[in-house]
Amino acid sequence: EDEAGQARFDEIIAQDSRIEPRDWMPEGYRKTLTRQVSQHAHSEIIGMQPEANWITRAPSLKRKAILMAKVQDEAGHGLYLYSAAETLGTPRHVLNEQLLTGRAKYSSIFNYPARTWADMGAIGWLVDGAAIANQVPLCRASYGPYGRAMVRICKEESFHQRQGFEILLELSRGTAEQKKMAQDAVNRFYEPSLMMFGPPDADSPNSKQSMAWNIKRFSNDDLRQRFVGMIVEQAKVLGLTLPDPDLRFDEESGKWIHQDLNWDEFKAVLAGNGPCNAQRLQRRREAHEDGAWVREAAAAYAAKTNEKAA
Ligand code: ACO
Repeated sequence: EDEAGQARFDEIIAQDSRIEPRDWMPEGYRKTLTRQVSQHAHSEIIGMQPEANWITRAPSLKRKAILMAKVQDEAGHGLYLYSAAETLGTPRHVLNEQLLTGRAKYSSIFNYPARTWADMGAIGWLVDGAAIANQVPLCRASYGPYGRAMVRICKEESFHQRQGFEILLELSRGTAEQKKMAQDAVNRFYEPSLMMFGPPDADSPNSKQSMAWNIKRFSNDDLRQRFVGMIVEQAKVLGLTLPDPDLRFDEESGKWIHQDLNWDEFKAVLAGNGPCNAQRLQRRREAHEDGAWVREAAAAYAAKTNEKAA
């Protein structure tokens, strides 16, 4: 049966078509997707924290309403992604346990602090911008539930990026102090946002197989340099500069060249030693405990409803 399953799987991949939850799939495919999709879900959930931190301090009612909507969107993204991950066979409470015990990874970027209001702009513009650059190709991922979840997520991320851009534009056109605050936020988020794309291709153990399975469509470095090209023009419109003396377009290779990134810092963040790792996980554990009564109430309600139906 495995042999027939493998042959059918290979055919679907060769046709660039989709694998669905009930289809036979190799264990490695299931495992790497569970890993990537659950890490992605955790990132959305932990990613709510740096911005939630500014909801009570947003400079106007309008900004507060937009920021709240945005943070709620991230929660929704986490939920679709956990649902997609669950279709691969690992229940959500197990995935959650992996996050709370620090065994699961989530995006490095969310371990950096959001120090000023301008950081809401830089996170929207650069972090959500990098997320879109990475995620648009994932709409074509070979695993159906993941690819379909990405379509909606990308639409919402585009709105997030525009709202970030607009915050920075307004600050950049404001007082000298406001412009300085915007530039400072961009200076701090530039390099960490480039590291979101993952290690350089030569140090990316999963890329080759994930590309062969049509999960990833482009390599980490390819997406990273594309993203740089996108933000170069946008930075000009903002009247801000990117803190990268090496940044240039290389005519010969047709690629953007950027400075070497600090991969030691990246490794430290992944190992749990970034500026905010401990705080982020602590906050998530507290939120999970605080939510226990909601889970209990929902379970009791579901049990009662089932009883009635029976
Ligand atoms: N932060 C944390 N961990 C990372 C990061 C990062 N920025 N980049 C790579 N890693 C991890 C990988 O998960 C992998 O870990 P593991 O093998 O222990 O599970 C390891 O570093 C090696 O990297 P790769 O072999 O390159 O891993 P992969 O092929 O999975 O590529 C990538 C990494 C590009 C992040 C891929 O998983 C992906 O596209 N994920 C979906 C997008 C996503 O998760 N975005 C989250 C941030 S955006 C947002 O939430 C708003």
